[in-house]
Parts: sequence; C-alpha cells; structure tokens
Amino acid sequence: MELITIKDKNYSGKRVFVRVDYNVPLDKNLNITDDTRIRASLETVNFLLAQNSILILASHLGRPKGKPNPEMSMAPVAKRLSELIQKDVKLAPDCVGAEVKKIVDTARPGDVILLENLRFHPEEEENDENFSKELADLADCYVNDAFGTCHRAHASIVGITNFLKDKAAGFLIEKEVNALSKILEKPERPFLLIIGGAKVSDKIGMLKNLLDKVDTIITGGVMAYTFIKANNWETGNSKVEVDALPLAKEIYKEIRKRHLEFHTPLDHVVADKVSEDAHFFTTERGTVPIGWIGVDIGPQAIDEYSDCIRRAKTIFWNGPMGIFEIPQFAKGTIEIAKAVAAANAFSVIGGGDSIAAVQQAGVADKISHICTGGGASLEFLEGKGLPGIDILKK
Ligand code: 3PG
Repeated sequence: MELITIKDKNYSGKRVFVRVDYNVPLDKNLNITDDTRIRASLETVNFLLAQNSILILASHLGRPKGKPNPEMSMAPVAKRLSELIQKDVKLAPDCVGAEVKKIVDTARPGDVILLENLRFHPEEEENDENFSKELADLADCYVNDAFGTCHRAHASIVGITNFLKDKAAGFLIEKEVNALSKILEKPERPFLLIIGGAKVSDKIGMLKNLLDKVDTIITGGVMAYTFIKANNWETGNSKVEVDALPLAKEIYKEIRKRHLEFHTPLDHVVADKVSEDAHFFTTERGTVPIGWIGVDIGPQAIDEYSDCIRRAKTIFWNGPMGIFEIPQFAKGTIEIAKAVAAANAFSVIGGGDSIAAVQQAGVADKISHICTGGGASLEFLEGKGLPGIDILKK
C-alpha cells in the first residue's frame, strides 16, 4: 500500500496540523502511566521542527462524550511532550474558536502548540463539516500520525482533509502500515497467530480474515474459554463470551476444513475468585473444573505454545493468556512474551496488555514491531479499510 508521506514534502515555515494519538493512560492524580504513544510521535514531530514549521498538534484523550472534562485535559501530555522535545509546548485552551485562532496566527516557525482535547466537542466524532473546516482553517497542511485512531471516521481524521488538500502520513503511520501489510500480504510461513484476552467478538473478524493465511493458532484468556465452551467442554466459572459462541463454532468448522493447527491450553491455572488472595491450583487437563475460574495457562500449555512460537517465521500476538494484572496469574503471559521475543520470526504485537507484558518481561526491544493501536490494528488485519489510512493513499 503506497501512502503519501511527509518525506515527499516541504513544510518549511508552514503551519502544519498534525493529528496524533496522545490517548495515553493516566492515574488518578492525572500522571501519565505510559508515554509510549507520545514517544512514538517524536520522529514526525522532530522532522517537522527541523523544517522550521509551526506545529499544531491535535488529539483526543479518553471518551469525554462531547463535553469538556478537566480529567481528560491534554495538560499532562503538553508537559510530557515538552520534556521529551526539550522545548516549550503551548497548550491551547480549546481546539477551535477565536482564542485558538489567535494563538496559531501569532505563532512563529519552530513553535509547538497542542490543542485541547478534540472530543470536548461532539462534532469531532460526528465528523461534522463545519467543525472540520474550523480545524482546517488553523493550518496550511495536514499530517496524520494517529495510527491508533485511523479506524475512526472523525473530523480530525477524515473531514479535515476535505479542506486541507495538502495531506500526508507521518512516520508512525508509515511504519505501522508497513508492518501490518507484511503480515497480511506476504507473511513468511509458518505464520502463527496468538490470540488471547477478553473482547472476543472484537477479534473474531481478524481471526476469520487470517484463516487463509495462518498455519497455527494458539489461544488464551476469555478467547480460549469461549472456544473450549464452543466444543462443549467444561469451563467452570471462567469468563466466556456467550454471544460469540456461534461464531466460535463456525470458526472451528473453517479451521477443520483447512487442517490448521489450533490450540486451546492443555492445562490451566484455576482460582476460586479473581483476586490476589484467591486460592488457586494447576489443572492436569484442558478443561476447567466446576466451580473454578480459569486465570492463566498452565505449564504444559506454556511448553506447547513455546514450541509453536519457536517454529514460527511470522507471529502476530494480540491479548494476554490470563488475568495478567494479578502477579500470581501472569506467568503464562510473561513466558509467551519471552518466547515471542526469542523467536527467529517477524513478530508484531498489538493490544495494550500484550504490550505491557513484553515491557514487563523486559523484551520489548526484541519484538519486530509493537503496534500503537489495538483496535486499529485489529480492523486493519480484519481486511477492512481504515478511513484514516484510505484517504492518505497515493
Ligand atoms: C485507542 O486508544 O484505541 C485510540 O486512541 C482510539 O480511541 P477510541 O477507541 O476511544 O476511539
């Protein structure tokens, strides 16, 4: 897929509207707990600054539902960005309006302005035409580097490009699209899909689309329990996505038709409750005893999955193997993270928890590509066009 990229253009002295995804996690004191997404934008930010342009950065943070909410202000992001680029970052009081226009009009080349949360206005998510034009009026050209939001047809992602015709993808989008396209278009075989976590129905589309490309699938978390249940095996009190059961049954049929290697865990760590003080033990088989909750994959599953990982040449991993936030139940996910990092394969990881796992295991730098967009990467691999990417195609 060929995109219009910022490398093809000259931004010298221009006002550039840069849509970034600074939707970062905050703790209750509004401190950023993971600044990956801010750091992921730096290549583009620094490239544009080196060209002496005026940067107008814009993002959403959280889901404020169209109303200003101080808990979702971009203020902590402005502070962190300023530390990272060692430059003043001016936080605008809003993303549109006379005051913002004045800030932009009086800015000088090399200045960095961060607009306030785009989603404080309902028009952002509605892809409203007037709002898109107001955003566009702030700048001479448009750059999108918000890969994590490209599956949303919002004003700052799509509508704005009707008014700012000079548009391009930033370095992050280019990197993400290249890595995911490699998986979709020419994966080296064997291609292993590791799929875990909750939100089964969000991932089934991706799974279906990849059935003709993958050789092996291994499962964990709610995804695994849903497939175990779909086989009419006992899952105890484990969380199962009941609405996804018919789809899981359908996928089983497709898998058999194609003779794919498909695994649910050979054994499980099961607990009486999802809590740090739970009683827990390891089962000897792939079912979950009545009254117990599956919370992690067991040692036999770790061995079998690690072997699949060793054999793979391409790996895509989305979702943890269990309740990874609770240290006693994190072993399966951490071991999978280590195995993926050690594999002699092109490895791509998407989804917050799997990324947290490779970071916790200290192996993030051994992964070929870490996606900054969970939902966006799933929709990309589902084969759906992403509205934000489609409008940046050459
Ligand atoms: C994300 O975190 O996946 C993106 O920033 C998109 O956020 P959204 O799901 O609230 O649209």
